[in-house]
Amino acid sequence: MAKFDFTKRDSFGSRIGVIAAAAGSAIGLGNIWRFPYVAGENGGGAFLLIYVGFIVLIGVPVMLSEFTIGRRAQRNAYGSFKLLKPKQPWYLIGLMGIAAAFMILAFYSTVAGWTLEYLINAISNNYAGKTPEQLSNMFDSFVSLGFKPVIFQVIFMFLTAWIVYSGVRHGIERYAKILMPILLLIIIVLGIRSVTLEGAGEGLNFLFNPDFSKIDTSTVLEALGQAFFSLSIGMGTLITYGSYINKKENLSTTAFEVSAADTAIAILAGVAIFPAMFAFGVEPNTSGEGLVFKILPLIFNEMPGGFAFQLLFCFLLIVAALTSTISVLEVVVAYFSEELGVGRKIATVIAASSIGFLGIFCTLSFGPLQGLDLFEIFNFTSANILLPLGGLLIVIFVGWFLGRQNVYDEISNSGILKVRLYKVFLIIVRFVAPIAIALVFMHGIGIIRI
Ligand code: TRP
Repeated sequence: MAKFDFTKRDSFGSRIGVIAAAAGSAIGLGNIWRFPYVAGENGGGAFLLIYVGFIVLIGVPVMLSEFTIGRRAQRNAYGSFKLLKPKQPWYLIGLMGIAAAFMILAFYSTVAGWTLEYLINAISNNYAGKTPEQLSNMFDSFVSLGFKPVIFQVIFMFLTAWIVYSGVRHGIERYAKILMPILLLIIIVLGIRSVTLEGAGEGLNFLFNPDFSKIDTSTVLEALGQAFFSLSIGMGTLITYGSYINKKENLSTTAFEVSAADTAIAILAGVAIFPAMFAFGVEPNTSGEGLVFKILPLIFNEMPGGFAFQLLFCFLLIVAALTSTISVLEVVVAYFSEELGVGRKIATVIAASSIGFLGIFCTLSFGPLQGLDLFEIFNFTSANILLPLGGLLIVIFVGWFLGRQNVYDEISNSGILKVRLYKVFLIIVRFVAPIAIALVFMHGIGIIRI
């Protein structure tokens, strides 16, 4: 098989492109679909507080660690470890990441398929005048159909593959940088409408007033898993993207800005969802994976120009999901093409079709294959087990094995940048993050009891 020519590696073309692509990866259904329902099921305010704590304390340093590894090695997630520590088994982190990518994309594309149904309903004005019960039934009966959700999922996988197929600069970067700012704007509008609904205060209270009696052993792990999932860290996505970042970019400000944008969007999604939920009398922990699809149409129905806003929102939700799915697929494609020597195009076809096939079983978990529950198994295992485990190993690698000088050179661009908080970063990756992740993890899955 042909060997990959590393002198011809693609890369991001500009600073704004890097931010847009990394933020595009981070910001997605994880913020708008997953965050609200997981926060709702885990008590709201207290969950949010722990979540934000994890983003700052663990998320940003793990993200910076991934960028550091990727840009140092200029390789895919597996190849980076192989190159930096040739004779040691660190490359297993890369392989675990590939496995996580399969799981994440399989169930994520199920939800992405639902967004296409949402778009079609919005275009046909099917949500107008519906009660919360009617919307809930519409969603439940759609996902249980089988054939139609699978078709939408497959369409979505095609879109993803098509963009990845077009390469890094001309595919991923170009789409991300125009559309993400518009998404931010429309979520702000949604939030404003939601908090001005009658009875909205209770929802804000639920989201921002921590009630620690609602915290149990699994909540903390859920918050950690959600933080990892939302930031796209722990499986090599940002190692892969880091490898496309120009040597002149500032990695630490990039990590900081991307994390801040991602967290802002998740909180704004919460501000849109929870007040509306209370205003319409829907219980915060009863809708599960369908939550946003059942609540958002209610807010748009109450808004002047709601039809147009909803259409625009659906379109942007699809774009946000796409900029995330391409980043997951890219991990697998970069691995296949650089390590196995298959061409980028063939790698894309093989990766997308095998993941798509797996994804069908996730989608059918809501219909004909109910009880198989592959969707929930993948959702839970990837976010709450594989990502924290990957993150744990990544910080240990950067903190203890990559070499002090290598880490410093990469983060400071060989001494050119003055990196504030560099000492803090070192303490976190060496001590704080490994211990915190290990404790939360073992506690969450019940190995230890505190
Ligand atoms: N972060 C994305 C979201 O919030 C999903 C995602 C993309 C992801 N790449 C990832 C999650 C890598 C975990 C790991 O929608």
